[in-house]
Amino acid sequence: MASNEEFNGNLKQKLEELFDASLKLTVPDVPGVEPKIKTAVGKKGDYQCDNVMSLWPRIKGKSTHIEDGLALGQAVVEKLPSSEMVESCSVAKPGFIDIALSTKWIAKSIENMLISGIDIWAPTLSVKRAVVDFSSPNIAKVMHVGHLRSTIIGDTIARMLEYSNVEVLRRNHVGDWGTQFGMLIEYLFEKFPDSDSAGDISIDDLQSGDPVYCKTWAKICETSRNECAKVYQRLKVELEEKGESFYKPYIANMIEELKGLVEEDKGARVIFTKGYKTPLMLVKSDGGFTYATTDLAALWYRLNEEKAEWIIYVTDDGQAKHFETFFKVARIAGWLPENDKTYPRVDHVKFGVVCGEDGKKFKTREANTVPLTDLLDEAKTRSKAALIKRAKEARDTKEWTPEELDKTAEAVGYGAAKYADLKNNRLTAYTFSYEKMLEDKGDTAVYLLYAHARISSIIRESGKDIDELKKTGKLALDHADERALGLHLLQFAETVKEACTELLPNVLCKYLYKLSEHFNKFYLNCRVNGSAEETSRLLLCEATAIVMRKCFHLLGITPVYKM
Ligand code: ARG
Repeated sequence: MASNEEFNGNLKQKLEELFDASLKLTVPDVPGVEPKIKTAVGKKGDYQCDNVMSLWPRIKGKSTHIEDGLALGQAVVEKLPSSEMVESCSVAKPGFIDIALSTKWIAKSIENMLISGIDIWAPTLSVKRAVVDFSSPNIAKVMHVGHLRSTIIGDTIARMLEYSNVEVLRRNHVGDWGTQFGMLIEYLFEKFPDSDSAGDISIDDLQSGDPVYCKTWAKICETSRNECAKVYQRLKVELEEKGESFYKPYIANMIEELKGLVEEDKGARVIFTKGYKTPLMLVKSDGGFTYATTDLAALWYRLNEEKAEWIIYVTDDGQAKHFETFFKVARIAGWLPENDKTYPRVDHVKFGVVCGEDGKKFKTREANTVPLTDLLDEAKTRSKAALIKRAKEARDTKEWTPEELDKTAEAVGYGAAKYADLKNNRLTAYTFSYEKMLEDKGDTAVYLLYAHARISSIIRESGKDIDELKKTGKLALDHADERALGLHLLQFAETVKEACTELLPNVLCKYLYKLSEHFNKFYLNCRVNGSAEETSRLLLCEATAIVMRKCFHLLGITPVYKM
């Protein structure tokens, strides 16, 4: 039965194992049949197995006792190893297998999670160490909204991998080096050897390139770094800076290793790759290195020194060509396998631009600067105003203490900004709108945080010690809405796995939104406090709250318990 050892919460995977065993027994002569399991499309079952339709033509005429697809489906079902998990299977023409899970087993699995904690539902991945290269702004330039997107998406990917027990090296690959910076420093030192007017320089001053404001390069870096640190601190994002300059000492050896691929081209040293007109520029004609040179050196370091098996780069899709080209070079050089899904593996997690409500590229000011801290302040201010208004309207709600209000406004405001970004498929451009992201209905963090706060208050109001209840209480899922919620809870593990392996945070957002919808339906139709099923239903509330909090955690959102 569902002991911790044999059941890790991944329903789909468990069904795949069962059907794999059955397919091997049913069609032993057909090699390499991968079980095709997906959540049921129709209303008949919970999952379905879709192997028969493609399998039948392959064995037709070869088997004496199986006369059609329907019979093949029945044979697969008969050979299914017995398990407590599957209640029944039914076969429909031309060979669909509908799988109904045991309600008892769903309930037991949730009880099990309540006792052991949600970590038993963490996905298992085949990698031990990964690099997530994200945020990565450029020194002496402002961090723009694209970097904010990279920061939010990259942090969530890192969190999901960490939850899956992968060691994650969170890398801030800041642009702190290159010919233009070298020239700037030289210029500064030559012209202003003892200028001390750098006391109160701002990012805008650095951008303008007017050296009168600048004292030293170190000051430039520091200013930029402090600016970024403020954003990271607010977003609670952890990053370790290993900027472009870090990889400088590895360039010479790296070029030596690629010697066989390098060609001369008008005084520059380049690498041509099949299918790409423009070669990768390794050494410019003036002897300087490029963005790609550094990225190759960094890749070499990550593979050989850091022993990372999966290296994930999060930037806007404008850089797609750059990544494709240097990934290609690394494959030709034999650093990476030809098959891009096998490890060690690299992925460019690209995303579209952020637009303002006018449909143009998002800017918060007329100037080129996009102060991200202003953006976060605004989200917080607006969410605070909404909380105050709400408290006034609901006369029974007791007053906020100033600290409570501030903390909640921050969690909701920042959470809303993050969620608005993450819920979209990252490949599409998204429109930034304070109003939309802070709406308390629909697919917003505000709505989800409310749902969580509501569940918390249901549990509080019961007056029961939920931690005690967890240890001994039994869960029954007799009502259809209880069962639907229970099943959805159990689908958490496979959802995180999918979001993680496909590198799509929006998959998790969609799950979370659906979870709150399932909860609302349950709560509408099933009385909790004071009902005969109170214990069981409180446990279901608690399990929902636990899964919601885990989702919030993975999305970098701080949960609130009262709103
Ligand atoms: N600094 C770059 C930019 O702002 C992003 C760096 C991404 N990481 C990388 N390894 N190339 O566009």
